[in-house]
Amino acid sequence: MKQHQLANMREHVEAIRSIVGLLSEQKFDDASTVAHSKLGLTPEMQSMCNMFENADFRELGFAFHQSGDDLGEALKSKDVNTSLRALNRTMQYCVQCHATYRQ
Ligand code: HEC
Repeated sequence: MKQHQLANMREHVEAIRSIVGLLSEQKFDDASTVAHSKLGLTPEMQSMCNMFENADFRELGFAFHQSGDDLGEALKSKDVNTSLRALNRTMQYCVQCHATYRQ
């Protein structure tokens, strides 16, 4: 379980990197697909987050994935500033959760 979660986390970094790269090439649609499929609240992420017993942690996880979907929508605007603002919001969750929880 722990290994699975850490593997998930490493995929999150890769997703962010990929979104930043696509954004720099103005590939908004591809970036949006990555945001929704890798950071959004997919059924897989939903069931993963549901396994956590700590309610605050779970809620933060859901809020984070919701922000991933918001990011996917922001990217569809094809506006760099709108997209960066949404990316910043999503990454605030990475920072906030890591600052609060340790294994
Ligand atoms: C809801 C909480 C939460 C959110 C949101 C979250 N993480 Fe994590 N992350 C964790 C926890 C807990 C660990 C394990 C920390 C530890 O072992 O001390 C972790 C570990 C990691 C690791 C280390 C993986 C390893 O192999 O050791 C990386 C990288 C990481 N997260 C990236 C991210 C990125 C990037 C985001 C945002 C896109 C993110 N995380 C969002 C909770 C979260």
